[in-house]
Amino acid sequence: MLAAVVSALHVLALALGLPSVFLRGRALRGPLDAAGLRRLFAADSVWGLAALLWIVTGLLRAFAGLEKGTGFYLRSTFFWLKLGLVAAVFVLELRPMLTLLRWRRQLARGVSPDTSSARALHTLTHAELALVVVIVFVASLMARGFGLRP
Ligand code: HEM
Repeated sequence: MLAAVVSALHVLALALGLPSVFLRGRALRGPLDAAGLRRLFAADSVWGLAALLWIVTGLLRAFAGLEKGTGFYLRSTFFWLKLGLVAAVFVLELRPMLTLLRWRRQLARGVSPDTSSARALHTLTHAELALVVVIVFVASLMARGFGLRP
């Protein structure tokens, strides 16, 4: 039962993550007035929630004996590739995450943020989106036992 719930939450993270990262990219390309910033922060919050869900449920599935057992994943080339790609998403996310946190803090203090880096953040956001799509294929190969070392 727990395995099914955690699996559903892992998939739900994808349902939240893909649209939110797409919408964050779109908001970064649009006008960053008060309404634009509200849309941007809303998408960014859902993207953050998806990331948290992915990591918590992913770690539980891999290492809490909910699926095929830790040994299976540690021997899977595609598991390590998946973790590497997740780490790459995290590295790409550092700048958007820190910048958007700064913008949120500035706005809360009544200061309008300097949004001149929006274009660069848009590029990084779209690179993250592309990596998430690749991760789904890698996850599917991993789950079916491809790339298992003896
Ligand atoms: C961007 C992040 C992630 C995405 C898009 C993602 C996507 C997926 C998808 C689509 C599946 C289902 C595969 C299938 O049954 O065909 C899956 C399963 C799984 N994922 Fe993730 N995942 C992410 C992060 C993680 C992380 C961080 C971990 C572990 C540290 C993890 C561990 C697992 C495990 C253990 C399974 C179960 C595989 C099985 O059925 O044996 N995932 N993931």
